[in-house]
Amino acid sequence: MRIFALCLALVLQAWPAVARPLYLDAKSPVEARVQDLLSRMTLEEKIGQMTQLNYSAINSTGKEDAVDVDEKKLRAVIRNFHVGSFLNGFAVPPAQWADYYATLQRINLEESRLKIPIVYGIDHVHGTNYITGGTVFPQNLNMAATFNDSLAAAEGRITALESADLGHAWDFAPILDVGINPYWSRLYETFGEEPLVGARMGAAFIRALQDAPEIAPYRVAGTAKHFIGYSNPSSGHDRTPAQIPDQFLQEFWVPAFRAAIEAGVKTVMINSGEVNGVPVHTSRRLLVELLRDQLGFTGVAVTDWEDILKLVNHHRVAADEREATRLAVDAGIDMAMTPFTTDFCVHLKSLVREGAISPARIDESVARILRLKFDLGLFEHPYPRTNRFPRIGAADHRMAALQAARESIVLLENRGALPLSDQAQAILVIGPAAESKRNVNGGWTLGWMGRPEPEYPHSMPTVREALKRAFPHASVRSASNPSADEMRAADVIVAAMGEEPYAEGPGNIDDLSLPWQQHALLRAAADSGRPVVLVLFEGRPRIVSGISDRMAAVVFAGLPGFEGPTAVAEVLSGKVNPSGRLPFSYPRTVGHVVPFHHKPSDKSGAQYPFGSGLSYTKFEYSGLSLSAERLRPSAEITATVTVKNAGRVAGQESVLWYLTDEVGRVTRPVRRLGHYEKITLQPGQSTQVKFRIVPREALAYPDERGRKVLEPGAFTLRVGNQAARFFLDGE
Ligand code: BGC
Repeated sequence: MRIFALCLALVLQAWPAVARPLYLDAKSPVEARVQDLLSRMTLEEKIGQMTQLNYSAINSTGKEDAVDVDEKKLRAVIRNFHVGSFLNGFAVPPAQWADYYATLQRINLEESRLKIPIVYGIDHVHGTNYITGGTVFPQNLNMAATFNDSLAAAEGRITALESADLGHAWDFAPILDVGINPYWSRLYETFGEEPLVGARMGAAFIRALQDAPEIAPYRVAGTAKHFIGYSNPSSGHDRTPAQIPDQFLQEFWVPAFRAAIEAGVKTVMINSGEVNGVPVHTSRRLLVELLRDQLGFTGVAVTDWEDILKLVNHHRVAADEREATRLAVDAGIDMAMTPFTTDFCVHLKSLVREGAISPARIDESVARILRLKFDLGLFEHPYPRTNRFPRIGAADHRMAALQAARESIVLLENRGALPLSDQAQAILVIGPAAESKRNVNGGWTLGWMGRPEPEYPHSMPTVREALKRAFPHASVRSASNPSADEMRAADVIVAAMGEEPYAEGPGNIDDLSLPWQQHALLRAAADSGRPVVLVLFEGRPRIVSGISDRMAAVVFAGLPGFEGPTAVAEVLSGKVNPSGRLPFSYPRTVGHVVPFHHKPSDKSGAQYPFGSGLSYTKFEYSGLSLSAERLRPSAEITATVTVKNAGRVAGQESVLWYLTDEVGRVTRPVRRLGHYEKITLQPGQSTQVKFRIVPREALAYPDERGRKVLEPGAFTLRVGNQAARFFLDGE
C-alpha cells in the first residue's frame, strides 16, 4: 500500500511535466511554441484564429450598445468556430471593461480545447478614448501641429498604461495615412500632409505604446493603419476610389508605414478602399510585394470592417462572399474583421477542403497570429488586473494631454487682439462649440461618433467655462443666437466655430466652406464693431477666407481633446504662448486644393500655408551656414542656424527645415520637410539649431518600385527666412 502510494505520488508529480505541451511553457522560444501549437490545431481551430468578431455579436442586445457578454452566444462562437479575437466597444468604466474581458477570456479558455487566449482590439486613437475616466489626448492632426515627437511618445505610453490592464492588448492606432485631402472625413485622424511628420510621430507613438515597461507583465500591440493609399479618394468621400501613381505612393504613403515597421509595429490594418482600380484587400502587389517583400513586415495584417463582404457589395470584384474570401486570403490578409458573422469560417474551410487555398497559406497566417499572442504574453497573463485603476486619468497623464493640447493650438492671424487684455470685463462666447464638449473632441471620443453631451467628463470645461476660469473677474457668457445689442455690450467676442463630431462615411461633405449659418453669425459679430476672435474647432479646414479679414484674430484649435478648452483659454489669455504650426495647407477656396509639396507647375491655393503659426514673441533666424557646399552621396553635411527670441515673452518654436531638389527626372515637389525640432527660448535668448543632412535619407526620392534615386545637382535648404544652396556630386 505504502509503495503504491509512493508510486502514485511520483506519477502525479511527473504528470504535469509530461502532459504540459511545449507551447504552454513560457520558457520555450516563441517560434518553437508557435510550431508546437500549430501542429496540434485542427483546420477549424486555425480558421477561428483568423476570425475577429465585433462585441455586438456576443453581447446581450446584439446591438452596439452594451459592453457585456451573453454567455450562450459566446460559447457558441467559441465552441463551433473557435473565434480567436474580438473588438470594439465604447466608453464604459474600467471595472466594467475588466469584468467583461475576464468573462470573455474565462469562457474562451473553458471552451477552447487548446486554451488559446483571445486578443481584444480597440480604437484608442487619441488616448484611452473608450474608457470612462481615461485620458483623452488631442486628435492626431493636433498632435502633428505640436511638431513635438515627445508628446506623441507620451500619448503612446499613457494609452498603454491606462488600457493594458483591462485586456485592451491590441490598439488600432496610429493612423498613418498621409493627410493630403482636406475633404476626407478622416483628415483629423492623420498626422497631416507631410510624410516625415507621420513617420516620426507614428514611430514615437508605436515605440512608447508597445514597449512601455510599466505595464509588465502585459504588453500592447499597435496597428499601422490603413495600409495603404486610403487618404486621397478622388471624390473626397470616405472609402471611394483613389488613383495614386506608384512613385507618388512610394514617396508619400510608404514612409510612415516603413517607419512604423522599423519601430516594430506588430500589426497592420488594411485600407478599405481601392487604389488604381484594385481594392487593397485583393491586391497581392500591395499586401505581399510592397508590405511583406519591400517593407519586410512580418506581423499580422487584419482586414478593416467587413471588408471581405465589401468586395462583393461595395467594390463588386467578387460574385459572392466565398469568392471574396478566396481573393482576400490569397492577397495576404491574416485575420478577417468580419465583424458580425462567422460566414468567413465556413467559406474559408470549404476553400481549403476543395484545394482553392492551401493549408500552408493558412498556417502562414495562423503562425503570425499565434506569434502575436505569445509576444503579448497572453498565454501567461490572459486575465485583466484590477489593482491599477487609479492610474487611469491620473493627474500627470492629464497634464501630458494638456501640454499636447497647448502646443497644438495654432494662432493663424492676430491683429493685436491676442492675448486678450486682462482688463476685459465682458466676454461673449458664441458659436456651436461654445458650450459643446462634443465639438471639441470630434469622432472616436467615448463612442464612434462621439456621445451625448452629458456623458463627457464633468472635469472637462466647455470653452465658455474654461474662459471663465482664465478670466475669473470678467463676465463670461455664451449665447447661441446673440442679438446685436448683446454683441455690442461685450468687450470681446470669442466665436467658437467649426464642425460637429463625425467619423468615416457620415463625415462626408461636398463643400469645404464653413457652414453658411456660421458665416452669417461671424458677419453679424464683426458688424457689432467689437473685436471677434475666431476659434476653429474642426477636423479639417473649413474655408473662412470670406470672413477672416474682419476677425481680430483667427485660431485653429482643431480637435484638441478633453484638455482642449483649457488650452485654448490659456492661449487666449496669454498664460500660454502659442507654438502650434499647421501640419497641412489651409485652402483659401474650395476650388483649388493642393498640398504644400505640390509640383512646380502648380501653385499653392493656401490661405494659411503648411507651417503657419504665430507666437506672442518674435523669433529671428540668422547665420544659416553649411559645413560644406558640395558633397558626395556617401558624405553628409551639417546645416546650422541661429534662432533668437527677440521678443519680450518666453516661447517655443518649431524649427522647420525645408529642402528643394532643384532638378529631378521625376518632377520634384516645390519643397518637402527635411527635418523639424522644437525648442524653447527665454526672451533675449538664442541658440544654434542643426540639421544633419544625410543624402540617402534627405536628398533621395523613391522610384515607382521604391528604389532610392539620388540625383546629382543643386538643392536649396530653407529655414525661417534663411536659405542656402548646396550641390550633390556623383560618386
Ligand atoms: C475603421 C478603422 C477601425 C475599425 C474598428 C473601421 O471602420 O476604418 O479605423 O479601427 O473600424 O473600429
